[in-house]
Amino acid sequence: MKILIIHGPNLNLLGRREADVYGTKTLDEINRLLKQLSKELKVELDIKQSNHEGEIVDLIQNSQQYSSLVINPAAYTHTSIAIRDAIAAVEIPTVEIHLSNIYKREEFRHTSLITPVAYGQISGFGPESYLLGLRAAVSIATHAKKSTS
Ligand code: DQA
Repeated sequence: MKILIIHGPNLNLLGRREADVYGTKTLDEINRLLKQLSKELKVELDIKQSNHEGEIVDLIQNSQQYSSLVINPAAYTHTSIAIRDAIAAVEIPTVEIHLSNIYKREEFRHTSLITPVAYGQISGFGPESYLLGLRAAVSIATHAKKSTS
């Protein structure tokens, strides 16, 4: 089983970006934790980060080899119909994750254009959101496999 993790814009700055909101772990540190967990769960993992909406759309369109996706669309969560449509188009079960609890923050973050096309959303657990997201992605991919066999 192969899973793709997509980090959206500005997440490359984790560790030095608004540490009070996003914590002090860098993206590399989070990726190491994800790799470690993927070994425990015996799944293959690819991890990508992009600051560009179209590039994220391309990643999703080219994700047919993956059983499920974990995406933190970052600011595009609240604005990107293109990313939402790409997720809807590929029909690969997708877990939307956020480090912060977007519902506790500014009102413009309360709307996610992604959630209606995601399998589910995990928000507010800091870096742990990614690890919970990976576990969820493995679980939904396993169930999807069982239900089609
Ligand atoms: C975020 C929340 C978004 O509102 C914000 O634009 C981000 C990060 C999070 O992980 O908490 O860049 O997706």
